Amino acid sequence: MDQYAVVGNPIAHSKSPSIHAHFATLTNQELVYSTLLGDEAEFEHQVRDFFAKDGKGLNVTVPFKERAYAMCDILSQRAKQAGAVNTLLMGRNGELFGDNTDGIGMVRDITHNHGQSLKDKRILILGAGGAVRGVLEPVLNAAPESVTIANRTLEKAQSLADHFDCLASSFEALEGPFDIIINGTSASLSGSLPPLKEELVNAETWCYDMMYGKERTVFLQWAHEHGARGADGLGMLVGQAAEAFYLWRQVRPETASLVETMREQM
Ligand code: ATR
Repeated sequence: MDQYAVVGNPIAHSKSPSIHAHFATLTNQELVYSTLLGDEAEFEHQVRDFFAKDGKGLNVTVPFKERAYAMCDILSQRAKQAGAVNTLLMGRNGELFGDNTDGIGMVRDITHNHGQSLKDKRILILGAGGAVRGVLEPVLNAAPESVTIANRTLEKAQSLADHFDCLASSFEALEGPFDIIINGTSASLSGSLPPLKEELVNAETWCYDMMYGKERTVFLQWAHEHGARGADGLGMLVGQAAEAFYLWRQVRPETASLVETMREQM
C-alpha cells in the first residue's frame, strides 16, 4: 500500500494521520499515513530514507519546514514565496519536489467553508513570522483591495511588505476598520494579544485566527467583544491537508464535515 507520513518534532499529537485516513476513506483511496519523529541531526537523511523505501509523500511540520525547503530539487511557486515546504513528493527521476499548502488551505477554508470572499477587501494581517509568510501569496492572489501587515517588530512587517508588495504598519499606527483581519501571531499560544485598537473592527469585520482551540481563542474573544464575527484555524489545518492529499492523489476531499466532526470531538 502507498506510504505517507508527517515528519516533525514533537509529532505524537499530530492530527494529520487521522485527517488523511478520513480523506482516504472518503475518496476510496488505499494508503497508509503514519508519523515520523524528526531528528534535529538526521532530518535530511530521514527524508531521503523515507523516499528510498518507496514512500510516496511526506508532510513536514515544525520545526523542519525551512530545512525541507532547502533540500528540494524543485519548488512550487507558492513554496518559493513562503520560503518553507510542508508537502514533499518524489518525481519520476528521483527529484524531490516541495510545495506549501498552508496558505491555499487557509484561503479555501475562508472562502469555501466560511463563505468570505477576499476579493476587493481591506485585509489586515497580524504578525510577520513564518506562519504569515506562508499565507501571503495565496491571500494576494485572491485580489484583495489592500493587504496590511502589522507586527510588533515593524522591520519584519516592512521586509515582508517589500517582498510581497503590500503595506506594513505598527499596531499603533493602524487605521481601521478593516473588512477582514487574520491573526498569524503566535501570541495566542500564550493567551496574549497584540495591542489592538477598538477601531480596527466594526460589525461588518470578519476575523480569522490561524490558531485554533477547544475554547474560543483570545483573538476571537476580542473580535466578539467588539461586535465582529469570525472563525478559528481548525479548517486551515484540515484545508492544508486536503491540498496535500490532492497533490499526492489528484483528488480533493471535501473538508467541512471533517472540521465539524473534529470540533465535536475536541
Ligand atoms: P510562526 O512560525 O508561528 O510565525 P515566528 O516566526 O516566531 O512563528 O513568528 C511569531 C510572530 O508572532 C511574530 O510576528 C511575533 O512578533 P515579533 O516579530 O515582533 O516577534 C508575533 N508575536 C509573538 N508573540 C507576540 C506577542 N505577545 N504580541 C505580539 N506579537 C507577538
